[in-house]
Amino acid sequence: DLERDEQIYSSYEKLTSQLPISHGWSPFSLQHYQSFWIPSRLVTACMAIQSHFNPRPSDIILVTSPKSGTTWLKALSFATLHRRSFSLSSHPLLTNTPHQCVPLLERFYSHRTIPNLNVLPSPTIFATHLPFSLLPQSALGCRIVYLCRDPKDAFVSLYHFLDRCIGSSAEHKSTTQGLDLSKVFQMFSRGTSAFAPFWDHVLGYWKESLKSPEMVLFFRYEEMMEDPASHLRRLAEFMGCPFSMEEERDTTRKQAHQQNPFVKSCLKPYTNPKNSIERIILKFHLKENRQPRVVGRVLGAFGLLITDSCGLLRVWSDGCGLPKAWSEFDGVVEDIVKLCSFDNLREVEVNKDNKGNFEERRPPPSSFFRKGKVGDWVNYLSMEMAEKLDAITKEKLHGSGLSF
Ligand code: A3P
Repeated sequence: DLERDEQIYSSYEKLTSQLPISHGWSPFSLQHYQSFWIPSRLVTACMAIQSHFNPRPSDIILVTSPKSGTTWLKALSFATLHRRSFSLSSHPLLTNTPHQCVPLLERFYSHRTIPNLNVLPSPTIFATHLPFSLLPQSALGCRIVYLCRDPKDAFVSLYHFLDRCIGSSAEHKSTTQGLDLSKVFQMFSRGTSAFAPFWDHVLGYWKESLKSPEMVLFFRYEEMMEDPASHLRRLAEFMGCPFSMEEERDTTRKQAHQQNPFVKSCLKPYTNPKNSIERIILKFHLKENRQPRVVGRVLGAFGLLITDSCGLLRVWSDGCGLPKAWSEFDGVVEDIVKLCSFDNLREVEVNKDNKGNFEERRPPPSSFFRKGKVGDWVNYLSMEMAEKLDAITKEKLHGSGLSF
């Protein structure tokens, strides 16, 4: 009902016009809404989410403070939840940005219409930067994954990101010289940045994760960088799709097979349904210098290659040398970690700034892949600045059990 939506958004705009505004990150402005600074262009969307977002209990919500690893968490969650639907060689993450695979909730509500999100498949993964206290009651029935990052690195990342956005936007280029690091540092320290104060954002979810660990999974960027695989396992369990024994299986054998040029050549044509299983088996036997034996689709004592229900290739022991079975699913944990790694995603064409692959007024895709390092703040912050942020962090998080 467009008219009703128009009325709703107009009433939000009225409210918005009365909120305190900050231009400290000019050309981007922020508004103070319910104890947090929200980018002005998203305030009405936040209000709409609070009143109209009604997720299903099966849905999953990813939450981050900006520049804390949202892109990475989106990719990992999407690849994990949908791992049985896509082969890694033709994965949606190779043709879509992680932000296209898991859009920001705020963007769904930024078009002056209340979207009907229940038409999306269940479960759907949503992502948001909303602080815990601003989430609608309805979202508290969903599983929430929170990812946080050392505020020094989050700040440096934010500074570069917004500076890039200014640099690449014709709209902003003419009006500004870029961001002044020391000025925006003061703003960040005072708690005036997008979805900030940073510490209140983290604490909201941290406390909830202690109270209801089954509903809020709390991750840290630095720990995830150290051991992505074990975080991925916890993520999968939390999302209700734990990795099976088969998926956990040691991958050495699979890798050895995949690297074998002949097996490689088998894998390729196999994705083409026109290639019959018999031909592949025949080819395999010829190559192995054995008597060709066409076993067909039925797996008998000599069965070698079959498809499983998902149409993926499996190689089974034929009793003549292949030690054991492997399948596309073996070692999927490592496969997903690799697919979603910084180095891999950054090189994917869609995540580069090729002409025409990004929307006007949106950050260029490559701005989400800068360095992907822990501790890069040392290259930009003076010791004094670092000590100042550390002192604020210590004071704000005191007694919470959380530290950076
Ligand atoms: P840096 O600017 O420090 O490099 P967000 O996704 O929340 O916007 O955060 C962006 C930060 O996460 C950037 O940090 C970016 O490089 C890093 N990042 C993006 N993809 C990543 C990945 N796959 N693995 C690790 N870090 C990643």
